[in-house]
Amino acid sequence: MATVEFAKGLEGVIVNTTQLSKVDGENGKLYYCGYTIEDLAENCNFEEVSFLLMHKRLPNKQELEEFDAQLKKERCLTPELEASIVLTPKKGHPMAVLQALVSMLAMHDDEIADKSIEAKERKAIRIIAKMPTVVTMFDALREGRPVVRPNKNLSHAANMLYMMTGRIPSDIEEKIFDKALILHMDHGCNASTFTARVVTSTEADIYTSVVAALGALSGPLHGGANEKVLQMLEKVKADEMEEYIDKKIENKEKIMGFGHRVYKVWDPRAIILRKLAVELTEKMGEGADKVDFAEKFAQYTLKRFAEIGKTNIYPNVDYFSGAVYACLGLPTDFFTPVFAISRVVGWVAHHYEQLVDNRIYRPKLYYNGAELGRKFERPDA
Ligand code: COA
Repeated sequence: MATVEFAKGLEGVIVNTTQLSKVDGENGKLYYCGYTIEDLAENCNFEEVSFLLMHKRLPNKQELEEFDAQLKKERCLTPELEASIVLTPKKGHPMAVLQALVSMLAMHDDEIADKSIEAKERKAIRIIAKMPTVVTMFDALREGRPVVRPNKNLSHAANMLYMMTGRIPSDIEEKIFDKALILHMDHGCNASTFTARVVTSTEADIYTSVVAALGALSGPLHGGANEKVLQMLEKVKADEMEEYIDKKIENKEKIMGFGHRVYKVWDPRAIILRKLAVELTEKMGEGADKVDFAEKFAQYTLKRFAEIGKTNIYPNVDYFSGAVYACLGLPTDFFTPVFAISRVVGWVAHHYEQLVDNRIYRPKLYYNGAELGRKFERPDA
């Protein structure tokens, strides 16, 4: 059979241009609109960086206040949407709940058919603002806790933690969660962002693009990895760690939270998240043993990869994020939804950008199936 050259997994294929983020895989750098993520995580908050990605420039004081006010105004859910969450099967994964409820948001949005820039921004803000309310309400209902409604006096990050726990977070919890959200907002042409762009390119609406992107993010090779990392670290006992890693490598199985298509050095987000995990456990006085184990696990894995000549596989964003979220009291199946609550900002920004000079994505598959034109014969009963 004839063979054909193709870029498996679209590796290295440039599908469009972007002004949103740049991933420098050789040097381990990530930029949003030209700013390093270290700079943004140190000096900005979720609201400011969201505005940056949606407008490709930082807001002035008044613009930021207005943007913040719009987000706060849109946090609440209508009684119809709340009723939909009440009816959601409680054994469902929160990512599936998000997909279902973002679809419901679209069905309740009177502006769904309005394609103006202004309406698009209002819809984007609605999605970003309501997603935390949806998942936290779902968690309260499934756990039998009272539902905590949004608090307009709190930032986006603090409000999400508040709705989750019913307790106003401390300054350090808010600061660290806010930084974690900033680090996840955008990341070049990753699988979920590409999905959002493909769906957008068909001129489907913004909600549909976000629902599709949520599906792509949920997979364990993408955003679903953070949940798998924590499950792995919790399963492996300290005295069995080396044997576990050795076996994985010997059997050529993936170690979750390691490796990246673009980064061939440490993922810069993993470096920051590692520091945040240490800072959080020090300030809160608990969880240090878990972060310490994650560090030992990572160091031994790196050593083993080096021994077999794999010197370009390092911890990625999903390796240490779970340690941060667990320390903040979030359940394991909330790690990927938290990723989504942040990455949605990138998706909506890419939705706008894709539409500026849109052309439908329509690549090809090389056909290597059955003989062409073979004669129809019904199989014997
Ligand atoms: N553990 C062990 N080996 C790994 C690995 C991991 N986490 N990630 C990559 N590799 C190895 C592969 O086995 C392969 O080795 P080979 O050349 O000997 O066959 C090589 O590195 C290339 O891996 P490949 O899966 O082809 O890379 P990719 O660019 O297609 O995939 C990921 C990138 C992220 C999907 C992949 O690294 C992975 O599955 N990581 C684990 C899941 C994860 O953490 N995802 C979150 C990403 S942010």
